[in-house]
Amino acid sequence: MPRVGLVGLGYWGPNLARNFDDLGALAAVCDLDAELRDRAAARYPGARIFSDYDEMLGSGEIDAVVVATPVPTHYELSRRALAAGKHVFVEKPPAMRASEMEELVSVAEGRGLVLMPGHLLLYHPAVRKVKSLIDAGELGEIFCIYGNRQNLGVIRKDENALWSLGVHDLSVILHLLGEEPNEVWAHGNAFLTPGVEDVVFCYLRFPSGRIAHMHLSWLDPHKMRKITVVGRDKMVVFDDMELERKVTVYEKGPWQPANTYGEWRTRTGDIFSPRIPNDEPLRLECSHFLELVERGPGDHVEARDGLAVVRALEALQSTLEQVRA
Ligand SMILES: NC(=O)c1ccc[n+]([C@@H]2O[C@H](COP(=O)([O-])OP(=O)(O)OC[C@H]3O[C@@H](n4cnc5c(N)ncnc54)[C@H](O)[C@@H]3O)[C@@H](O)[C@H]2O)c1
Repeated sequence: MPRVGLVGLGYWGPNLARNFDDLGALAAVCDLDAELRDRAAARYPGARIFSDYDEMLGSGEIDAVVVATPVPTHYELSRRALAAGKHVFVEKPPAMRASEMEELVSVAEGRGLVLMPGHLLLYHPAVRKVKSLIDAGELGEIFCIYGNRQNLGVIRKDENALWSLGVHDLSVILHLLGEEPNEVWAHGNAFLTPGVEDVVFCYLRFPSGRIAHMHLSWLDPHKMRKITVVGRDKMVVFDDMELERKVTVYEKGPWQPANTYGEWRTRTGDIFSPRIPNDEPLRLECSHFLELVERGPGDHVEARDGLAVVRALEALQSTLEQVRA
């Protein structure tokens, strides 16, 4: 079993610590905050506790690092871990610039190390189900995908809605379509904190002609975490707010009856919800990382997918700034 060292025990880190500990892989934890270190020491008596990240990297007690610190530190901490020969699982987004992520991917590839960004939704059984429906051709030709990620709060001051919320939908949209956009636009506004957009609308167009949209906001009356895929034959909705019906398939679509001489009609059939396993996405994500460390990074698919997400985020951000200027 690979030995994992986790850096960052704030809000999200303890979830990762719990999962890696349950999987028998948590060997060390590190945080700058003494109180958080004490709490972790009490909960995980078998793990070594560090206040200094480089000391943990040099301790010889870990094979892999999990980075759960604030986003601006991701690139630097991941870079140092790869330089020390450690496999890396880095929380989303893995870097704030595409050039930084390109460098991390190239180091990981050069050294044969795993670099896995924490795009949690890719391990969600419902997203896996939607992907399998698309790949099996069940929905027919895909026309468009749109994501809704809205709520009232949490209001961030150092990360806009695109980077904080959009990273989730973007990782799923690129995964489902299997291509990178060649045209992107983001429009939004910063109503509460100067320079930090609270509401962002994004448009993406892909080389295949498929299009996507994302509505991202923490100033909204609706709590929505939904992704809708519109295909020629069927349409499917992944609604993460639903407890039981996470995925709904609509047998609806356009059609051209032979006797209407080219006129379009619509067709409505059954609506059903496939059974989705109840597995915790974070557990599946942590297990996948350990598997990669054990069997090797292969074609570095996870790292390259992470790069595609950062590239799209950067392109969307630059259009947001053009509009702002
Ligand atoms: N996948 C998800 O759904 C999800 C959800 C929430 C947060 N996250 C991600 O998790 C990461 C952490 O978010 P958070 O809300 O827990 O942040 P946080 O601010 O609550 O915690 C970060 C912790 O990192 C520690 N830290 C920072 N620099 C350090 C260093 N050099 N050495 C040691 N410790 C250091 C801080 O002391 C702090 O305890 C972010 O990247 C965020 O995007 C992911």
